[in-house]
Amino acid sequence: MSNNTYSKLIEPSIKDARKRRKEEIKFSIFDINPKYLNFGVGKKYHLKTYGCQGNLSDSEKMAGILEALGFIATDIETEADFVLFNTCAIRENAEERVFGELGRFQKFLKQKPDMIIGICGCMPQEEKTVRRLKKSFPYVKVVFGTHNISSLPEYVYDAFNGQKVVEVLSIEGNIVENIPVKRDHLAKAWVDIMYGCDEFCTYCIVPYTRGKERSRKPESIIEEVEALAKAGYIEVTLLGQNVNAYGKDFTDREYGFANLLEDLNKTSIKRIRYTTSHPRDLDLATIKAMALGGNIMPNLHLPVQSGNNEVLKRMNRKYTKEEYMEKINLLKEYVPGISITTDIIVAFPGETEEQFQDTVELVKEVEFEGAFTFIYSPREGTPAANYENLLTEEQKHDRLNRLNDVVNAHSLKGQMRFENQVVEVLVEGPSKNNPELLCGYSEHNKLVNFTPKTAKVGDLVKVKIIKAYSWHLLGEEL
Ligand code: 5AD
Ligand code: SF4
Repeated sequence: MSNNTYSKLIEPSIKDARKRRKEEIKFSIFDINPKYLNFGVGKKYHLKTYGCQGNLSDSEKMAGILEALGFIATDIETEADFVLFNTCAIRENAEERVFGELGRFQKFLKQKPDMIIGICGCMPQEEKTVRRLKKSFPYVKVVFGTHNISSLPEYVYDAFNGQKVVEVLSIEGNIVENIPVKRDHLAKAWVDIMYGCDEFCTYCIVPYTRGKERSRKPESIIEEVEALAKAGYIEVTLLGQNVNAYGKDFTDREYGFANLLEDLNKTSIKRIRYTTSHPRDLDLATIKAMALGGNIMPNLHLPVQSGNNEVLKRMNRKYTKEEYMEKINLLKEYVPGISITTDIIVAFPGETEEQFQDTVELVKEVEFEGAFTFIYSPREGTPAANYENLLTEEQKHDRLNRLNDVVNAHSLKGQMRFENQVVEVLVEGPSKNNPELLCGYSEHNKLVNFTPKTAKVGDLVKVKIIKAYSWHLLGEEL
């Protein structure tokens, strides 16, 4: 049935994606062309999501759009009429996994030739991905990036009508409000506050895949959070690649991330978290806003990447180890008991053993309660991809293992401080390993498994912690 003509063929350009002009951000309101309404009735979709919370949030919007068209979700891959991969480009291994999955789906097409396979998110924003898709995965019928989620109705319509769509926009970005959202969780919700990133860390692909920093209006965010609270949601996580740059792009007002936290502190939502922060842009006003407490939870993810100033400079992180420590100390002073987690990259090109040791020392000094640790992965089009890296695979893994040992020791210490304490847990569901227990997260974002009394999913309950383990706390409902 497919004649393989393209209804659209716009391929990515890293050169265009790198541009940052001073143009006004275009805001628009989502709406579905009546031509597509009910188009999905009788069809099932299966959405696979990889990567960060930004992608989880985008997937909830795409699910919302597909359901508005009449599609229904299925967990069974072979039942799906439309399969969409929402992908991550941050490291090579994330990408290889997706290519492997696309290969696996080719055999489903033999049994179900009408199945439409699509790919979106960060990977298609890269030139090399689209080249490889066209060459080795011609059966992928829908390819789009991070900027045009709102065009999904048109893409699926064209694909189901026998056409191929490749539409990847290498623009700085726009903001589309009112996209329907099908939330995955009953009590926790993602709230995008801004999109894109202007930091251009030399290892990172995100500023090229997600465009320039652009903020939603505070009124829209506050209204969304209030509506979520009214609908019974307990917790929101404010999302952005660099939330501390929130509001810098406003031309009509002086309003930053600290102001947003202060305003949201007055809303009726019970819990607020946010991610991700950039140490350079995290200011005293924000630390003071966190000190307001109440619904602002005492945990912070503050990626440091390296503990060595020379490496930080080559990463273009724009802060020193000393400046990072100053902010950590302020955070600990203003928000006593705060739980701080981080991201670290090892084996950045040229990182010496001494420079690596500086990172290990920093982990000990800060006493991070958790860290995502990564081996540096070169990304085509980023400056660091051209830096010479003489380390062997064995040396890279050895550094990662040694770092993880130190990180794990501190995580356990961060867990132990809760033994015999009472924490408040937002209940998520049955515990993974013991169905008689429930699980959820505490104020400090610790996973708690506990023996329930009356608690049910979505409740906020008091739990006495009996024992701390490396990756969870064990307790009983009071
Ligand atoms: N290689 C390895 N890790 C990376 N990250 C970002 N880019 C790369 C890369 N090229 C890590 C950073 C970031 C986290 C989301 O992923 O630590 O904070
Ligand atoms: Fe990537 Fe740096 Fe932006 Fe984070 S702040 S998304 S690491 S460029």
